[in-house]
Amino acid sequence: MVALSAVLCAAACGGKKETQGNASGSGTGTGTGTGSSDSGVDAAMAAPTFEQVVSTATAPTQVVELVKRDPGYLAWIMFLYVNWPAKAGERGVPDPGGTLGASPTVFQTWKEVHEVYLAGGAAPQPWADGGPSGPPTLSLGEIDGTTLVDVNGNPITYTVAMNQGTFDYLVSRSLYGWSGQAALRQAGAAPVAFPASAMEVKASWKILDPVADKDRLDHYIVAEAILPPANTRVTVGLTGLHIISKALPNWIWITFEQIENRETTGAPWNFAIDPAVATTNLAMQKALAGTPLAYYQANGVQTEYVVDGAATLLANSQIETRFQKSSSCMTCHALASVSTSAQPRLDFFQLEAGNLSGFVGMPPTSPFGPGPDQYSALDFVWSMREAKR
Ligand code: HEC
Repeated sequence: MVALSAVLCAAACGGKKETQGNASGSGTGTGTGTGSSDSGVDAAMAAPTFEQVVSTATAPTQVVELVKRDPGYLAWIMFLYVNWPAKAGERGVPDPGGTLGASPTVFQTWKEVHEVYLAGGAAPQPWADGGPSGPPTLSLGEIDGTTLVDVNGNPITYTVAMNQGTFDYLVSRSLYGWSGQAALRQAGAAPVAFPASAMEVKASWKILDPVADKDRLDHYIVAEAILPPANTRVTVGLTGLHIISKALPNWIWITFEQIENRETTGAPWNFAIDPAVATTNLAMQKALAGTPLAYYQANGVQTEYVVDGAATLLANSQIETRFQKSSSCMTCHALASVSTSAQPRLDFFQLEAGNLSGFVGMPPTSPFGPGPDQYSALDFVWSMREAKR
């Protein structure tokens, strides 16, 4: 077995041949669709093995070490982990014998928000409930109230899911319902602090049309899902994926998207990919050739609000379509909050020249505190706003 450090260098150092390890998928001759040639990027890099992916992604200390050393590679380890085929009848258990590209994937067996924030604030079923009882229900619309429509005329849709570390913490503090969140406003309540093992995803999906999309059906991680309002059953392809890990106190913020999105959804790319991450993308797309994962790219990784005096940005064309230029994952999520005042959550957009724009840079501290007009922070987890009374 290849040491993780050797694979790291193969992914990020370029120029060195890596021929050991699990090289399946390379050399199949199927293009990755990036239009790239072999310009300086190692074409023979091995994809990380099951064991490397799982042992790194599930060990917060290793995640922290890797994100400091090679953020782009950490992004791919996390992407591989959440997209690893899952064992049937369980939640969040990767199948060592699974074929990359098969569904359901690990994140597709995590608890979906609709299974956690129930009517009346009722307690959810336990984690070990035999797996999802059916396909997830897709959410329509982006958080700015707009809808991205693909070139086939269908809406891009969304799901949000959490791993066991996140779920168990929410349950232990009864934060799945409004009354548990309101209790955070009582004097002496412990702040919300998820464990280092916590992970969450927000996914964007495109309905796969067997005719219009026939040439790219194998370019996607797929899922069966329920599309409101008529609740029709559809096959959807993953166009975007936000992945967050609580391995760092302010979480690690990662986002991926499908490389043909501009063509298929018409959404512009208003972001720049860090050159080191772009190099890792090319190396991993080659290593994963022959699997749908080769059709994805990391847009970047965010771990700081500000670097060298400049606010950091990170966005996904499918999830922050119209506010990519003012999208700071961390800053917006730092505003995740609860109060028992007339406005239970802080605003996460401001109006700028008639357009909604996000907050970037260091988040304000003044809204948080015990005062009647102040808020309790929800440790960056905005989907907690789904809690019902
Ligand atoms: C302007 C605010 C804003 C920005 C910017 C933003 N998000 Fe979110 N995010 C939200 C809201 C609100 C939700 C709640 C779920 C929903 O309604 O879709 C959410 C949900 C999520 C979730 C599901 C877990 C949770 O916290 O509820 C993840 C994961 C996530 N976002 C990651 C990211 C990443 C990664 C980025 C940057 C690439 C990002 N977000 C940028 C507001 C934002």
